[in-house]
Amino acid sequence: MTKHTTPSGVAAYEIKDDIAWVSFNRPDKRNCMNPTLNKEMGDLLSELEFRDDFGVLVLRGEGTAWSAGMDLKEYFRETEAQGLGATRRAQADAYGWWRKLRWYQKPTIAMVNGWCFGGAYGPLFACDLAFAAEDAQFGLSEINWGILPGGGATKIIRELTNFRNAMFHALMGQNVDGKTAAEWGMINEAVSADALEARVTEVARVLLEKNPVALKATKDAIRRVGEMTYDNAEDYLVRAQEAANSYDNEGRKEGIKQFIDEKSYRPGLGAYDK
Ligand code: ACO
Repeated sequence: MTKHTTPSGVAAYEIKDDIAWVSFNRPDKRNCMNPTLNKEMGDLLSELEFRDDFGVLVLRGEGTAWSAGMDLKEYFRETEAQGLGATRRAQADAYGWWRKLRWYQKPTIAMVNGWCFGGAYGPLFACDLAFAAEDAQFGLSEINWGILPGGGATKIIRELTNFRNAMFHALMGQNVDGKTAAEWGMINEAVSADALEARVTEVARVLLEKNPVALKATKDAIRRVGEMTYDNAEDYLVRAQEAANSYDNEGRKEGIKQFIDEKSYRPGLGAYDK
C-alpha cells in the first residue's frame, strides 16, 4: 500500500482493497486545519471522487488527533490580518471541501482516532458514518476562546444530538469522550482504540457489497429528507428512485450519436429517432 501526500504534505491517502484511507496529516499540529490543508484536501477529494479503484472513503487523522479544528494562528489570526477578502477565501476553501464531502459520490466514514474540535465537526458531519475510539475527545471549544461555534458547528451539533446536549456542549466548552458522543448520536459507535480500524474496515466491506448507484441515492436522500415535509419527501424519493433507475440511460447517448456522428437530426430543431 503506497501512501501519497498532497503537495505540501498536509493531507495524505492510500488505497487498499477498494477503500481510500484519507488522512489529516499535520500530526505535530494535531491536524488542525490551516488554509493550505483546506485547499489541498479539497483538491485531493476532487481528484479521488470518480476513480474506480475504491468504493468507500475513510477520513482519519495521523497521530493523536483526528483534527483539533481550525488553525487558530493560520486560519484565524493570520488570515484575518489580511482583510475580509482573505477571510472569505479561506472560509470558501474550508466550507467547500466539507460540502464536497457531504455530497460525495462514494460513501464516507469518519474514523475519529483522537481529538476532534470545533471546525472538525464540519468534516465529521460531512462523513456519512462515524466511528470513534472510546477515549477520543470531542469538543466545541469555541466558547473557551471567545467565539460562537461557527462554520456550521452550531448547526451540526443541533442536527446530531438533542437540544439539551447541544446547549450544554456549546455553552460549557467541556469535552465528551467517544462513548458519550455515541450516546448523544454524534457518531455511530465507539470502540476501543485498538479495535477502531478493524471495525471501520468491517463496515466499509459491507458497503462495498452494495450497488453504488443506490448508495449515492440513499445517502443523499437521508440528508435531504430531514428538511422536507412528509409529502415533499415522498415525492422527492419517487423521483430519486426513478433517476437512479435510469442512471445508465442509453437514450441520451443515442441522441448525441444521431446528432454528432450520424448527423440525422438537430436537437435544436426536434427530437432524435428513438
Ligand atoms: N490551532 C493552531 N495550532 C494548534 C491547534 C489549533 N487548533 N491545535 C494544536 N495546535 C498546535 C499547538 O499550538 C502546538 O504547536 P507547537 O508545537 O508549535 O507549539 C501543537 O499543535 C501541539 O499542540 P499541544 O497543545 O502541545 O498538544 P497537546 O497534545 O498537549 O494538546 C489539544 C492537544 C488539546 C488538541 C490542544 O492542542 C488544543 O487545545 N488545541 C486547540 C483545540 C481547539 O480549541 N481548536 C479550535 C476549535 S474552534 C474552531 O475550530 C473554530
